[in-house]
Amino acid sequence: MPAKPLPDFVERAVSLERRTTLALPGQAAFYAEIRAATQLAQLAGSHGPRQFVLGAGSNLVLGGDFDGLILHMAIAGRQLLGEDAEAWYVYAGAGENWHQLVSWTLQQGWPGLENLALIPGTVGAAPIQNIGAYGLEVADRVLSLDAVDMLTGRTIRLDRADCRFAYRDSVFKQEGWHLDARLVVIGVTFRLPKAWRPLTGYGDLAAELDRRQIADPTATQIATAVSNIRSRKLPDPATLPNAGSFFQNPLVDAALGERLAQAYPDLPRYPQADGRIKLAAGWLIEHSGWKGRNLGRVGMYEKQALVLVNRGGACGAEVLALAHAVQADVRARFHVELTPEPVFL
Ligand code: EPU
Repeated sequence: MPAKPLPDFVERAVSLERRTTLALPGQAAFYAEIRAATQLAQLAGSHGPRQFVLGAGSNLVLGGDFDGLILHMAIAGRQLLGEDAEAWYVYAGAGENWHQLVSWTLQQGWPGLENLALIPGTVGAAPIQNIGAYGLEVADRVLSLDAVDMLTGRTIRLDRADCRFAYRDSVFKQEGWHLDARLVVIGVTFRLPKAWRPLTGYGDLAAELDRRQIADPTATQIATAVSNIRSRKLPDPATLPNAGSFFQNPLVDAALGERLAQAYPDLPRYPQADGRIKLAAGWLIEHSGWKGRNLGRVGMYEKQALVLVNRGGACGAEVLALAHAVQADVRARFHVELTPEPVFL
């Protein structure tokens, strides 16, 4: 039980199954819909239950019931803060839908987020795991974050450098703040440069634009092309529950990268600035025999082996069992360790 009485807006015994895109069963002991930062200030400083911030639940594996307090971020609002010769500065509340923000900025004539079209989730969650796709990461466009410090109730601002962004990583994950809601993001300021250049280097995107005979794409055409590719490859959680890529693309040292390249010339490899090689986890999983294969009521998706899907009625333990089986087979065959991408609760 919490040490001090929880405010009236806190609900009890709320099912989370439909609030996460993998649709795993589980109940939150306490649940608060956060529509304003003042609610967070009210909850701050309590030595109450364990806390976790929930956005759209699109990157979450629920192990079962959660005995703490879920802070469901629903802070709305988006606006142009200003512009100068170099850029537009756009602010969005943490509860805004990510894709709607991308579409809205494009409609306003402010390009820059188009490669991240159709990524499920909320604005507040985007920087936590530094969402990325088709050659762009949200870190490339974040200027700062506003967050409530749940120890003091104060709002603080983190600049881009404070966020310590890396591939699917940020200071929130590095410090574990995403697990205990120590700092809760309430809004994000984006910097969208006016010197816009299309980012079309990613293989799938270049091929899609080529197919449509678009040589000189607008930002909106890129968003459409990205949306088309995503719709073809990634299952819609409304019909086939999933959490997007289930593992990160692994980074291996140059020596292992070289050995694997010799043995498997068609394994996709992406050399990194630090000398390491990023490998395509989807390829490794497919070539371990898991593409389209099920274990119980979960499986690896037939059109993209990196996506774990709930075929219906699965629970968290089944997801863990499949994840471990896939990791073990990839390890045995390729000596590569796969790290899950979603957050486990
Ligand atoms: N591949 C296979 N078999 C598969 C899947 C992929 O051989 O079953 C190969 C593809 O042929 C391709 C390579 O792996 O050569 C990469 O595949 P893809 O372009 O589909 O991208 P990905 O590396 O599997 C990453 C992100 C996605 C993002 C796409 C596009 C991660 C963990 N995933 O996937 O992000 O949309 O690139 O940029 O970095 C997510 O994070 O949830 C997510 C969907």
